[in-house]
Amino acid sequence: MRRANDLVAGWMRRAGMSVREDAIGNLIGHYSGHGPQSAASGTKGKILLLGSHLDTVCDAGKFDGPLGVILAIACVERLRQGRFRLPFDIEVIGFADEEGVRYQTAYLGSRVVTGTFQQRDLKRKDAEGVSMAEAIRRFGGDPTKLREARFDPRQLLGYVEAHIEQGPVLEQEGLAVGIVSAIAGQTRLEFNFTGRAGHAGTTPMGARRDALCAAAEFILAVEHYAGGKPGLVATVGQIQSEPNVSNVIPGAVSLTLDVRHQRDAARRAAVARLGRMARQAGAHRRVRVTSLSVQDTSAVPCSPWLSGLLERAAGHHQRRTVALVSGAGHDAAVLARMTPAAMLFIRCQDGISHHPAESVRIQDVRVALTVLGDFLGLLAESVGRNTTNQHE
Ligand code: GLV
Ligand code: MN
Ligand code: MN
Repeated sequence: MRRANDLVAGWMRRAGMSVREDAIGNLIGHYSGHGPQSAASGTKGKILLLGSHLDTVCDAGKFDGPLGVILAIACVERLRQGRFRLPFDIEVIGFADEEGVRYQTAYLGSRVVTGTFQQRDLKRKDAEGVSMAEAIRRFGGDPTKLREARFDPRQLLGYVEAHIEQGPVLEQEGLAVGIVSAIAGQTRLEFNFTGRAGHAGTTPMGARRDALCAAAEFILAVEHYAGGKPGLVATVGQIQSEPNVSNVIPGAVSLTLDVRHQRDAARRAAVARLGRMARQAGAHRRVRVTSLSVQDTSAVPCSPWLSGLLERAAGHHQRRTVALVSGAGHDAAVLARMTPAAMLFIRCQDGISHHPAESVRIQDVRVALTVLGDFLGLLAESVGRNTTNQHE
């Protein structure tokens, strides 16, 4: 992350931005709508936020997150090269932790800028026992200053995030880009199964309290249950077994559960049902099951105003546009609670994401860049003043 931020900070500066890093490590480039000279003089108007996240899952592809940051920087670079003026400033933001890989709870960067970060998360420990507070300090941030990193919503015009679709619809429709209408909600939970470790050779099968067998029954029940509920997706993505030794009955297991649905009521009902199923899987083995909710985010609609402008901009480059609901989580879902937020999706190959095979076509990226540029022009008109679109 350190190397990523330093690299991208250099690209931001070259594109004409002044660069800062906030207390959690979000990388923010500021570009004055009056051009790079005014950025240096510190003039500040209303701000349009553009960006996405710079962190990735493990063994990730190259595009989930970074593409949106790089597109935003390229967009600013074009503004500067064309000396276009805008009646607002732009801040490009590379969020520090959207995926939640290290602490199993997502949107850390965007929760800080929206003032919705939960201080108790600072105590969460990673796999090596490093607390989040310590990790932030080691990175060069300041866990005691997270509240001060909040944006003032009165200063913001909105937030726009470009992102790969991570699904197959645009490819099926033969379209380079699409507009996101809403982002599905998600719940992430941690389950702990506590049985009793014991000798694998001497403990009769009927006398065991095998935590891993209870967890295994639950994992398959999750798959079966979600498979029968249209629109529901549920995933056990991480599992730890103790003592994790070949000749010892597993005494304790912890695992994560990620549950998503477009409709919040359906997601909540599923979470409650799955919790009961976990306890049942434990009960007949005398394995105790507890669960802890580590994240619960409601579904959010995108801003009709900004999405409408994006749609008009996209209409200049393709004959029609489609509206997509995002099953993946995005920083835009958090920003939407503070400021109008919209998303532009870019076609990706076979809908593959969270995998090294993630791929986009360069010509689609070009379309997305032009759409973003045209969007800025439409937004400038919409906020009531004209872009001069003239050389200074
Ligand atoms: C982020 O990519 C998520 O949807 O989990
Ligand atoms: Mn992702
Ligand atoms: Mn992403």
